[in-house]
Amino acid sequence: MKKPSAVTLNALHIRQQPVSVTRQMAAALPGLRALAEEKGLKIHHLGAGYPHPEVTNPRGYIEHKEAFYAHRLAEEGHNDPDAVSDLLREAYNYTDTLGPRGPREAFASVYGNDWDVVMDPDRLIPTVGATGGINLLCSLFERPGKPVAYVTDAPTYAGFLARASLYRGAEIYSVDMDGEGPVVERFRQQIRAARAEGFYVPFYYTVPDGHNPAGFSFSGARRDAILEVAKEEGVLIVEDAPYVYISYAPDGERPKPFVTLDAKQTVHLFTGSKIGLPGPRIGFLYSEATLRIENDEAASLTDLLLTESSGDILFQNPEALRGFEALLHDERMELRESLWPVARQKLLIYRENREIMMNGLERYLGEFPEHFAWTRPEAGFFTVFTFLGDRVRTDDAFVERLVSEYGVVVIPMYDFYPADARRRDANAGFNQLRLSFCFSESEGEGRVRDLTEAVKTFCHAARVESGLPRILG
Ligand SMILES: Cc1ncc(COP(=O)(O)O)c(C=O)c1O
Repeated sequence: MKKPSAVTLNALHIRQQPVSVTRQMAAALPGLRALAEEKGLKIHHLGAGYPHPEVTNPRGYIEHKEAFYAHRLAEEGHNDPDAVSDLLREAYNYTDTLGPRGPREAFASVYGNDWDVVMDPDRLIPTVGATGGINLLCSLFERPGKPVAYVTDAPTYAGFLARASLYRGAEIYSVDMDGEGPVVERFRQQIRAARAEGFYVPFYYTVPDGHNPAGFSFSGARRDAILEVAKEEGVLIVEDAPYVYISYAPDGERPKPFVTLDAKQTVHLFTGSKIGLPGPRIGFLYSEATLRIENDEAASLTDLLLTESSGDILFQNPEALRGFEALLHDERMELRESLWPVARQKLLIYRENREIMMNGLERYLGEFPEHFAWTRPEAGFFTVFTFLGDRVRTDDAFVERLVSEYGVVVIPMYDFYPADARRRDANAGFNQLRLSFCFSESEGEGRVRDLTEAVKTFCHAARVESGLPRILG
């Protein structure tokens, strides 16, 4: 058969983007799974960063949303339950770039209360998850067509790297981290280095709570220090916050999000994916920043981003936003004071999973501190596991062997280090794995059993691959 002819696009300078390791793993998994199953091995999931099926049952979400619509129908004065309320009509109609006001007002009230911040509902821009917020920001700063440098952590969130690198004029300047967060002086140096190279530096992107993939939260003191530098240098902090409610720290001991410290210096990205469900793609971007733009004018970042958003999605999905508004109301359809009661149900599962992971690692590997280390996450879904000796290199071949020889699925860390971090240290991340404890196919007792087994099998593999005694029994 004749091959279809290719449309020539090279004149447009479109470059093939590398496929991320997470996507490569997902593509390789069926083959590796078959190989493992041929050997009679069970597959153990410590790779996927998905919310657990036990806390993302859509049935409850849908029922609650329908009760919310019914309640509003009654409030509108309809006696006939089959009548179409104004709310329902509006939910399936065109809206505008800000979407309906109700969900923004409800969110500003509940979130503002939980995090002790006054939020203006008119500054809340709905986004397609946190991903949509990242997209809007990158899109805005790409618009002048000039070289842009983004400062971020080494390692950093793969979705941010994927979006930022779509623009040819973008360069990443990454900041190495220690146990408390990004190294403050390195942060300042990277901003200055990027400027010295002729780049415009709009923001520093980070995930301060339950960092994905670094598996820890920044200390309060480090947040203060980073904020100070950001202010001095005139750089925004983009705070991606999917895990603020997936928090294992006791009440009163949670470090404050950047947005509560200074909303004029911060862009906060909220997502409904972890506290609600990921499918409806709910997110809100919030900032009180003002930017200096062309002709030395000052413009509100919200206004600039709204223009960007109206050129992008133009209309919000009002039905999805109303579904989220429903979640912000309790069973009596009163506006919640807090989202913590919703989070607590999820935390029952995630906290137990985290304990299984931490206890398993300690039990089977704790006696080899010179060989292994791991982070103790205060929030989120991940711990970073480090091989301290030089016997193990956590490259693709190693990760594939963990699946085919032991049935254990994990994600290697090296791909989360931006290119400049790997230029500084060619081995960056090649002694680390990201272990996730958020997901299993089973629920209830099956979940506990499967995760316990998964951690034990991983520890066994880590020991054998490091030349240490196998786990007996
Ligand atoms: C740091 C980070 N940002 C963004 C996302 C994507 O979130 P959303 O579903 O809101 O687009 C994730 C999801 O795992 C994440 O870990």
